[in-house]
Amino acid sequence: MKWHKIPSNAINSKQPIQLLKGDGQKYCLIYHQEKWYATSAKCPHAGANLAGGKCEDGKLICPFHRHSFDLISGKGAEGQNNYITTYRIEKRNNDQYVQLPQNLFKKYLGF
Ligand code: FES
Repeated sequence: MKWHKIPSNAINSKQPIQLLKGDGQKYCLIYHQEKWYATSAKCPHAGANLAGGKCEDGKLICPFHRHSFDLISGKGAEGQNNYITTYRIEKRNNDQYVQLPQNLFKKYLGF
């Protein structure tokens, strides 16, 4: 895992869901009920872009078939039998950082 600084314009915009890239990997940055969350960007059900969804009561709702995922644990609602990955966010001084998995292609192959 590797920490990446979240662009300040993304933080300042406070958009509910943004699709961002860190180390070549897409993730969703979410601002919900005055807290920040970060999750994987692809829905495990059929691959929709979760950045097109919405948040309700601590859940991220997929725009395609409305599967919902807990913003903290990533766990899908009962009966879905799926989950999304959630990433840690940490504030350091005036910046926010997200912890993403290390890009193995970059690490071992240099691209
Ligand atoms: S693609 Fe997300 S619920 Fe079907």
